[in-house]
Amino acid sequence: MKKISIAIDGPAGAGKSTISKKVAKKLNINYIDTGAMYRAVTLKMLNKKIDLSDKENIIQVLKNTKISYKNNHIYLDDELVDNKIRTNEVSNSVSYIAKIKEVRDILVEMQRRISKNTSVIMDGRDIGSNVLPNADYKFFVTASVEERGRRRYLELKEKGINVELNDIIEKIKTRDKIDSTRAIAPLKKCKDAIVIDTTNKTIDECIDEILSYIVERR
Ligand code: CDP
Ligand code: CDP
Repeated sequence: MKKISIAIDGPAGAGKSTISKKVAKKLNINYIDTGAMYRAVTLKMLNKKIDLSDKENIIQVLKNTKISYKNNHIYLDDELVDNKIRTNEVSNSVSYIAKIKEVRDILVEMQRRISKNTSVIMDGRDIGSNVLPNADYKFFVTASVEERGRRRYLELKEKGINVELNDIIEKIKTRDKIDSTRAIAPLKKCKDAIVIDTTNKTIDECIDEILSYIVERR
């Protein structure tokens, strides 16, 4: 089968990773979660108690940091950190780290390397616009901010973490704003991306919609 690449971009809580993982399984291709890489860098800076506005220090620490992504798992300095990168603290800090050019240069290079010789579905904020501009398929997965907040709220509640729904919505709005207004590779819908609005759709409906475009064009 010919190598294919699928780019999935969109804001937090839109359903990107849930949908991408399932589409990857259906098509028997690799799923690459680029957000996990930015989260791992952020975790390192939080562990080292580095001020998130201290760019020079962040870049220095990054030079002695090993981030690797293997078989859907993310490692920070050889430690498996799949769960540690999903805390509220990391979520609320990651956008400050992700706007630093030197951080992006390293991670984008890694993402392109991973996807060079293999079929992938990759999700993030700048995949269609920057990481894989020649992707065979580009989707912009989105939903209303209220629905995205509600989904994150339910996820946290399930983990036993009590948060205010409004607070979660505000945090998501802040993150969306930083991600979409930064100077380098901001979150935006590419001209050639197909919009999938997941607000009132089930996960299966979203997957079917994406697969229908892929099957149609293959
Ligand atoms: O899962 P969620 O949508 O909450 O976020 P994520 O995909 O894990 O991404 C976390 C953060 O990493 C985003 O809010 C962006 O600041 C950054 N990111 C990015 O800048 N570029 C990417 N390709 C992926 C993530
Ligand atoms: O990766 P991203 O931040 O875009 O979102 P996600 O982590 O894949 O999805 C956030 C939550 O929304 C998950 O709990 C999904 O199960 C849920 N979801 C949903 O309820 N309905 C959809 N159509 C898509 C996702």
